[in-house]
Amino acid sequence: MLARSSLRIARSFGAAGKVTCRTAKRSASSSSTPKISSSAWTTTAAGSAATAVAIGSAAWYYHLYGRSVHAMTPAEEGLHATQYPWEHEKWTKTFDHQALRRGFQVYREVCASCHSLKRIPYRTLVGSVLTVDEAKTLAEENEYDTEPNDEGEIEQRPGKLSDYIPSPYKNDEAARAANNGALPPDLSLMVKARHGGCNYIFSLLTGYPEEPPAGAVVQSGLNFNPYFPGTGIAMARVLYDGLVEYEDGTPATTSQMAKDVVQFLNWSAEPEMDERKKMGWQVLAVTGVLFAISIWVKRYKWSTIKSRKIVYNPPIAPKSKPPVRGPTGGSGVSR
Ligand code: HEC
Repeated sequence: MLARSSLRIARSFGAAGKVTCRTAKRSASSSSTPKISSSAWTTTAAGSAATAVAIGSAAWYYHLYGRSVHAMTPAEEGLHATQYPWEHEKWTKTFDHQALRRGFQVYREVCASCHSLKRIPYRTLVGSVLTVDEAKTLAEENEYDTEPNDEGEIEQRPGKLSDYIPSPYKNDEAARAANNGALPPDLSLMVKARHGGCNYIFSLLTGYPEEPPAGAVVQSGLNFNPYFPGTGIAMARVLYDGLVEYEDGTPATTSQMAKDVVQFLNWSAEPEMDERKKMGWQVLAVTGVLFAISIWVKRYKWSTIKSRKIVYNPPIAPKSKPPVRGPTGGSGVSR
């Protein structure tokens, strides 16, 4: 009884629902034409307004923060460094470790009197630039503080492989005082720190003209170098032909020394480069094989689906019915 009455209620609800539904449809259809056109207009307007607001905000944001501000005009920025075909920068090439040895020699004999190489411990030189024995001997040439002993005193001990290459000056102030107020920057990450990287440093080292060009204003204590932003650099020309004597007999021309020291500085900024490139090729090889296998598996799995033929079998007409057409009196539907 209860079930029947609830069924009835449900039915009447359903009917009511249908009725409302129908009326709703009818009212919509009766006034459809003007409503649709007005809603289309509002949609277009809303879309256009949203686009305008989006473009406007992007433009305003760019106006506030997007423009890069230059302290100097492009002329004052300095000459753009020449692009050189650095062998070690190619995808398949490693550092030339003989060049790294020569470059380290140039750093030690020329640059190290002014520039520190704070981030390089002797142990990282082992295997890529020096042998273990060479690195140990070099480390022992300098003295480092010991840990405080039982009396709290700090003593001096010869350097170990775990020590870092010492800085030429005690602190930045001492460095400035010795260099006319200019601070020779740390060279560990210099290749990464300057726009142009290797090209810039090479151009800088080899780009000192004999005489500043006519009309160039060079402040006292500065040297003219067209590649340095502002063209007046506190570092004088440091590389001259034959300044160092390479152990492998390579002629030590200015450009040879610059090339070697730049490659060495690239190593100090990216000591992991050789490993990184090797790893990159391994990753490409493995993912290449996996990609090929995944294509094969996909084709294998899909082969049954792709080669499947879907055929429509029309229903067979009942036997009792007279044939619809056809002289043989068959079902009349060819299969
Ligand atoms: C006599 C000291 C001295 C020696 C030797 C020296 N430099 Fe410098 N170097 C400086 C000073 C000082 C500056 C800062 C220049 C400035 O800010 O105007 C500098 C700046 C630099 C810069 C940065 C330029 C920039 O864009 O800011 C690089 C790179 C550089 N030196 C590389 C070298 C290399 C490589 C060697 C060795 C071949 C070397 N320097 C030898 C004193 C020296």
